[in-house]
Amino acid sequence: MASINFVILTVSDTCYAKINIDLSGPKLEENINQTFPNSSILAKEILPDDKLMISQFLTQWSLKSNVDIILTTGGTGFSSRDVTPEATRAVIDREAPGIANAMIAKSMQITELAILSRAVCGIKYQTLIINLPGSAKGATECFGFIKNILPHAVAHLR
Ligand code: MTE
Repeated sequence: MASINFVILTVSDTCYAKINIDLSGPKLEENINQTFPNSSILAKEILPDDKLMISQFLTQWSLKSNVDIILTTGGTGFSSRDVTPEATRAVIDREAPGIANAMIAKSMQITELAILSRAVCGIKYQTLIINLPGSAKGATECFGFIKNILPHAVAHLR
């Protein structure tokens, strides 16, 4: 199985303020370790729904040549604080809409609320950035829908 270097970013005002516990970041870590046992998680971070802070984090980690994939979880919905897609779009050089479209299409078979996702996926330098929903359930489901294409995507970016 391919060795992939991941970074996980949880975007949540309440987790950042320690009002809620981050369940999605650890769940994604578990999913990655199960799916890609040889892979590394180089960083795990929790940030508030702040466009500048998210963009700066994405830029900082995609600048590192060994980071293959940054998974974000949260902040992709319709609430006024949800800015993860905007922060991602501000950073990426090239969009990869097929990944976001596939996640929504597959998720629609589970919940029609998936249509509310504004997730953006794209490439910055050699790093693929993927927005996932904020719930541990949604993040796990969406990761499951795209995990098989990740080694191929990374191989093309290296
Ligand atoms: N996709 C899947 N597979 N499963 C889910 O439970 N939740 C949806 C959607 N996508 C969901 C999903 C909901 S309710 C919302 S509001 C959007 O993701 C955005 O979630 P976010 O604002 O937490 O990122």
